[in-house]
Amino acid sequence: MIEEFNIGVVGAGYVGLTTGACLAHLGYQVTCVDRDEVRIAFLKEGRTPIYEPGLEELVRGGARRGCLRFSTELSKTVHGADVLFIAVDTPQGNDGSADLSSVGAVAREIGDALSGIERLRPLVVVNKSTVPVGSGDYVSMLIEEGAAEGGNGTIAYRVVSNPEFLREGSAIYDSLFPDRIVLGADTRDALDTMRALYEPIIEQTFPTQLDPRPKDVVPFVTTDLASAEMIKYAANAFLATKISFINEVATICELVGADVTSVAHGMGLDERIGRRFLSAGIGWGGSCFPKDVAALRSIAREYDHEPVLLDASVTVNEHQRRRVIAKLQRDLHTLKGKRIALLGLTFKPNTDDLREAPSLEIAHLLDQRGARVFGYDPVAGKKAAELLPSLRVVFDPYEALKGAHAVVVVTEWDEFRELDLNRVASLMEKPPVLVDGRNALDPRDVKAAGIRYRGFGRG
Ligand code: UGA
Repeated sequence: MIEEFNIGVVGAGYVGLTTGACLAHLGYQVTCVDRDEVRIAFLKEGRTPIYEPGLEELVRGGARRGCLRFSTELSKTVHGADVLFIAVDTPQGNDGSADLSSVGAVAREIGDALSGIERLRPLVVVNKSTVPVGSGDYVSMLIEEGAAEGGNGTIAYRVVSNPEFLREGSAIYDSLFPDRIVLGADTRDALDTMRALYEPIIEQTFPTQLDPRPKDVVPFVTTDLASAEMIKYAANAFLATKISFINEVATICELVGADVTSVAHGMGLDERIGRRFLSAGIGWGGSCFPKDVAALRSIAREYDHEPVLLDASVTVNEHQRRRVIAKLQRDLHTLKGKRIALLGLTFKPNTDDLREAPSLEIAHLLDQRGARVFGYDPVAGKKAAELLPSLRVVFDPYEALKGAHAVVVVTEWDEFRELDLNRVASLMEKPPVLVDGRNALDPRDVKAAGIRYRGFGRG
């Protein structure tokens, strides 16, 4: 029997909605709050505003069992909650630092809602948004300010940090079967509350259809607030740098005639290195790595430290986009008037997210050089067309390939691995060229169909 908790989640985006739906799946009473009325109305109808495999089913299941509700009223949710997660976005500001205005506004509102209310237990305010080190104290300060404005400075609450490590495209799996849960707190009672709340995940004792259960016990890492906040930045910056590292190695592989896929395999089997996040290609994008690496660089500079390794990681990543153009120019020479097809527009497969997607920059660079760019994506075509008017979006991959001088696989959606390569070759201008931006295809298959194959670091 799990302990009963009433949970509020502020922000119904990727992190908030997944957190809310997963906690409701564990059997808790959860209310997801968002100030966006359209989004909440959508959710109340059982529809999710984002594309994330399995999320809609989980949301509907939670709502059907009466465990998951949606609201636009933060103060009401604060009153009824034992634990309140803040999961609003912290976008990149103009100077690279994280913009905390949404987090700040929520903190003030929490303070205001708490003021003058008698509570049996302090409200545990859990910061899940990615925030600079020291933000826990900042959130406390704003809660106090909000409470003072509401006429009562003495309110019962605790602020803890609980960074999120889920990946888009596998958000539910990552939430229910995490590698670890990190909790930063300054008080024992808040820590105990969070330990009890996460008990079903730590012990892996919850009902799930997602078998096989891959973990015995999930490590629960407890630390201070600042270290928890830093763990999030350090983890994302390390992963981004790991990718930039293999991309640098891939470039050197091309020069010396080695194959980076074999190199990554041989390196990755060393447990100290690990096999994951060693796929070379056009580099990292998305809503997290670019923003978090920029924020960590900005934090370092605030303290007069030059983060040379992080700077280099970003430089390598920028080069990767341009290397697509260089590879096309090697075969096609001038790109003016050439028709180029981009397959996959989202920043990675199984999401409809186009934030910092390499496709947008590559399309822009091609457009600058006078190429005619056609794009296809299994889910985000319409969104991409709105973002980049110069990109001609079509809704069938073969349509994009008709008359194309070259095709670039930008995102490794599964369906591109199943393309009929003979048909691809017959539709394209001769000689057809394929730039595999994710090393997703087997070069032998591509060449057998009479298409020139250009991967990243593949000899
Ligand atoms: C990332 C982290 O992996 C999560 O742990 C974290 O919670 C999340 O950011 C966040 O901070 O919210 P996500 O942005 O969803 O998750 O995507 P990833 O799967 O990490 O991929 C990021 C980028 O790296 C993608 O553009 C992907 O194509 C690229 N990538 C990944 C590579 O180029 N090579 C690889 O080997 C792996």
